[in-house]
Amino acid sequence: MRVLVISDIHANLQALEAVLAAAPAHDVAWNLGDVVGYGANPNEAIDRVRGLGNLIVRGNHDRACAGLMGIEDFSENAARAVRWTQRVLNKERREWLRALAAGPVTPEDVPGTSCVHGSPLDEDEYVFTFNDARPSLREAAARITFFGHTHVQGGFASNGEEFFHLTPDLGGGDEAEEAELPLRAGARYLLNPGSVGQPRDGDWRPAFAFYDSARSLLVWHRVPYRVVEAQKRIRAAGLPEFLADRLSEGQ
Ligand SMILES: [Fe+2]
Repeated sequence: MRVLVISDIHANLQALEAVLAAAPAHDVAWNLGDVVGYGANPNEAIDRVRGLGNLIVRGNHDRACAGLMGIEDFSENAARAVRWTQRVLNKERREWLRALAAGPVTPEDVPGTSCVHGSPLDEDEYVFTFNDARPSLREAAARITFFGHTHVQGGFASNGEEFFHLTPDLGGGDEAEEAELPLRAGARYLLNPGSVGQPRDGDWRPAFAFYDSARSLLVWHRVPYRVVEAQKRIRAAGLPEFLADRLSEGQ
């Protein structure tokens, strides 16, 4: 099975279109959540995502924008974006967001894999470090878990004794780029495709991953996109300036 893995689109339609245009041929698409929030095209992003299939895990911004959770713990910029998104979403799309599944979601067609937003143990947990990753690598039901939420492309692996931090071997720059990670039989993995719509790993290019289960191969991708257009739309919508600025920094 060839899988396109995407996460944290955050209503950035321009980034999503660039990712879909660059994605290798795939059989299914898995979406790890945060379809909306921060960006200026939530309705369009939802419509585009719905056309990709139905394996979608809900993110914290999806829950907030759907009115399923409070925003007391959100930053001021994030909270402003949630309130704006709530105003522009129509009822039908809000209902669609409300109905998204909490992770872990287990794809039926690829045994041994699982999809979550935060971690296999807590949908709101950020997995940034070894300490964050260890319990999940030990206790996750699936051998390979795809996660998002941190907006950092990369992941963690364990052979049962040692733990490894996985960082895509990419050079940076402004062109499309990819890095392969052959997966080892028996090892356990936490794999983050990175964020489509608001990367925070120092690289402004939208991130995604391609997983080929038959070849036990993961490929991390970065692609350029019309970032100026996405920024223009954020400013035109009256969303916080910071949310536009950060897109070109990848922070
Ligand atoms: Fe996110």
